[in-house]
Amino acid sequence: MRTELQRPRGTQDVLPPESWKVEGLRQVALTVARRYGFEPVETPIFEQSAVFLRVGEHTDIVQHERYTFRDAGGVELTLRPEGTAAVARAYVENGLQAWPKPVRLCYFGPMFRRERPQAGRFRQHTQFGAELYGSESPLADAEVILLALAVVEAAGLADPEVRVNSIGCERCRPRYREALVGYFAARREALCPDCQVRLERNPLRLLDCKVDVAVRAEAPDLADYWCDDCRAHFAAVEAAVASAGRRVERDPHLVRGLDYYTRTVFEVGHPSLGAGVALFGGGRYDGLVASLDGPTVPAVGFGMGIERLLGALGDRLAVTAPTPLYVGHLPGYAEEAFRLAEWLRNQGVAAESDLLGRSVRAQLKDAARRTRWAVLVGGREWEAGQVVVRDLGQGTQAPWPKERLLEWEGVAAARLAVGVPWAEPKAAPDLR
Ligand code: HAM
Repeated sequence: MRTELQRPRGTQDVLPPESWKVEGLRQVALTVARRYGFEPVETPIFEQSAVFLRVGEHTDIVQHERYTFRDAGGVELTLRPEGTAAVARAYVENGLQAWPKPVRLCYFGPMFRRERPQAGRFRQHTQFGAELYGSESPLADAEVILLALAVVEAAGLADPEVRVNSIGCERCRPRYREALVGYFAARREALCPDCQVRLERNPLRLLDCKVDVAVRAEAPDLADYWCDDCRAHFAAVEAAVASAGRRVERDPHLVRGLDYYTRTVFEVGHPSLGAGVALFGGGRYDGLVASLDGPTVPAVGFGMGIERLLGALGDRLAVTAPTPLYVGHLPGYAEEAFRLAEWLRNQGVAAESDLLGRSVRAQLKDAARRTRWAVLVGGREWEAGQVVVRDLGQGTQAPWPKERLLEWEGVAAARLAVGVPWAEPKAAPDLR
């Protein structure tokens, strides 16, 4: 039983060293995004509910899974279940349509959905997302897919499985919807209770039902209903992604759970996550900005689940906690050690000194549990302008001149160990 003082169901406490991994992924994501020209944007964690209601009439996360409350002033607010509607709201509110096109924005932060918690599904999860506004070009769709793949790869994950589809546009989709409703209505008895409702409200979602797999297998294919423009657009997206050496596969049943998509939709999984669990997903949404009372602006983007990326990476994520330099002291020299630690931090070195009034022995015992390198302050050496440098791993030590302290290898290690991987660019194939 969960007591009232435990964290809410479906949420997590992220402690070190795991928390360093999250920080590492944030830096990897933002660094790679910057290479593609995406700049970070921050929006509030809550919005007025209308922002999400406007874009998600038939969407589970908006209809049934919202964390909604009224504040003391009676305003109805919703913890954001996703970033796309919030960033589009910010785009309209701040007049970003006046910025040079395309506008490329990205974000990294918590999302809230009252889903049934299970492996890889939380009530608070973290998304890295990217949104590109102002281009209808299939190259824009390809660019965001390639960005997401580059982030996954820079984090250390190989072999993502990319599935893409096009759900058409408002010209060709109604014809398809009609055919689909006809097909499923004739098989209504065989449908699960959820799909019986979907048939009335949002028939496209019948395609990605995890229960009615057999019924949908013979359903009409979207591709047979695409208009010429949608067909050409989809072919160009596939070709552009493939030209970058990435394998993509068309999944005729991929439709995604959010209402705002037009044309391209995509989802990426990984063998370590199991079928139906997406690492990231997204697509094109040319009508969303207008539905928030903004101008008509074509847009495309994705959201990536950071907890899922962490899960898929497992031990492959090479992030280590920083290894600080321990500044120990002999009796009577606590203040000198305190000052030396601060001096080192000002030189960019991670340093710690004793805050518990411990003996030298106790200080070093504690230090050995946390790091490999220590300097000792005090005694004859200190008065002669030296410290004692100590390798806690080897148990060796030697005097070292104070003014050359920054040259000692233990200091160098504490300076380098920022604790996050730096996404090294991969070796580029020849440019043809
Ligand atoms: P989404 O597919 O709902 O799309 O979520 C994006 C990603 O967030 C998923 O692929 C998954 O990795 C992660 N995720 C979603 N829900 C959970 C959960 N309960 N627990 C853990 N991870 C989760 C969107 O949110 C769209 N805003 C994506 C987008 C951006 N489309 C266009 N631009």
